[in-house]
Parts: sequence; structure tokens; C-alpha cells
Amino acid sequence: MSATVIDGFAVAASVRAQVAESVAALREKGTHACLAVVLVGEDPASVSYVTGKAKALAEVGMLDRSVHLPADAAESELLALVASLNADPGVHGILVQLPLPKHINEAKVIMAIDPAKDVDGFHPVSVGNMVIGRPGFLPCTPHGVMVLLRRAGIETNGKHAVVVGRSNIVGKPVAILLAARQANATVTVCHTGTKDLASFTRQADILVAAAGKPRMITADMIKPGAAVIDVGVNRVEDPTAKKGFRLVGDVDFAPACEVASFITPVPRGVGPMTIAMLMENTLLAARRAAGEA
Ligand code: GUN
Repeated sequence: MSATVIDGFAVAASVRAQVAESVAALREKGTHACLAVVLVGEDPASVSYVTGKAKALAEVGMLDRSVHLPADAAESELLALVASLNADPGVHGILVQLPLPKHINEAKVIMAIDPAKDVDGFHPVSVGNMVIGRPGFLPCTPHGVMVLLRRAGIETNGKHAVVVGRSNIVGKPVAILLAARQANATVTVCHTGTKDLASFTRQADILVAAAGKPRMITADMIKPGAAVIDVGVNRVEDPTAKKGFRLVGDVDFAPACEVASFITPVPRGVGPMTIAMLMENTLLAARRAAGEA
């Protein structure tokens, strides 16, 4: 058997195209959707994500109000910037790129963002709304995973989904969304404290790998016919690559393809969906600000 490889790049492009149409329609009515991305410092992965976001904003026709602060910027400076973006009616979405430098309290910064502009879905109000199924903003990567499952026609209703990883950004929210009534899966969350991980992953109809460990999910850990969603983005050294590294997922891809029914690749799987869902959330924030949603 060879798995169907889910083309996240193509799905993300189609989401962005839909967003672009709605951005244009909203603009005709006088609201130009705008996102402010705040980057502090020069973390290479963060710089690369922020560059991707700027490209997507241009593609969907949104305004880009990005701000780059130096790595030694004071926490108070960042908080003052967030306050000014909160107060600016021309800014609909605010995203502070994580991780922040060590001297800045991440939780404090996230909590300073107006929940109405929290297009990352990281504010406790957004998290709470997601958990109780109220409208808000869904975090981009977990939401992207759900959209990929839906577009690939993967049934979640009554299935056993096993999530490996319990981060606030991916593992926890994806487990909540899979267990929500709309998806209706039965969910197991595994983490670094799980004993005999493979005994759980082998039960998964849907396996979501979000542990951040390169190729930790090997083919023998996958139930034949399972759908495997790889959220891992790991840089591994590769002297033959132009940049000296390449990206691999949490799943040992080629052997896993022989066992799974569906699988997402890395790159071009879940990754592009994160930015596409960010564009969708920013559009939603702009529509809400305009009284249209
Ligand atoms: N760093 C890695 N992923 C993300 C994300 O989705 N949002 C933010 N703000 N920072 C990140």
C-alpha cells in the first residue's frame, strides 16, 4: 500500500484564493483588512515565518503593518506597541511572533492583545471560547489540521484520534477540536510522560504528530490504513542542502507511506495551512470590525 499524500500547499493556496476574493469584496465596502505582525529579534525560524506571512498578506491583498523590534527591546516597549495596535482601528489583527527573547514574559504579552484582534488564537479568552465552542479565533495550525482532514475527506466521526504532543500551540488545541461535536472523534493525548507510546499510536485511526522530534513516529507505530498528520517542522543538518539544513517532520515519512492511507508531507503539508488560516482569521477580524460577522 502507498498512502495518498495530502497536498497542503495546494489546499492552502485555495484557502488564500478564497480569502483574497472576500478581502476585495470587504474593501469595496470601505474596510481594508490589515494585520500587524510583530517580530522581536532575529531568530532564523521566526524571520522565515514572518517573511512567509508578509508574502501571503500581499497575495490576499491585505495591508501589512509589520513591526520589527531589536532583540534587546524592553518588555515595556513591546507592551506599549501592542497597546497602540489595540487602539488603532485600522489594524484588525495582531500577531506577536513566538518565541520571544528570554527577558520578555510571553504570557504577559499574549494577554495584552485585544481578544477581538487575537488572530493567533493564543489569548486565554480565545482558548476559552474554543474549548466551550463559542465564536472567537481558532489557533491557526490546529484549525489548518482540521481543514486538511475535511478537504481530504477523512472521516473523524467516531474515529480514534491520537495526538502526540501537548503544546499550547498545537497538541492541546488540536485535541479539543477533534473531540468537539463537529468532528466527534474520540481523542487520546500522548506526551513525554506517556509510557509505551507505540501501544497508543498503533490504535490511532487518525494520528497527529506534534512532538517536535524529528522522525520519532516510525512505521511500526502506525496502524495500517491510518491517516497521519505530521505537524513537526524540524531542522536537521544536511551538508548537501543549500542552507546546510533541511526540514523533516515528526514522522519517518517514506516508510510511513507504506502503512498509512493518508499522510501529510513536510514541507508542503500542514505548514502552509498555518499561514492560510491566519489570513482567514484576519479577514474574520476585519469583517467583525466592520459589523459584517
Ligand atoms: N511561532 C511558531 N508558530 C507560531 C504561531 O502560529 N504564531 C506565533 N505568534 N508564533 C509562532
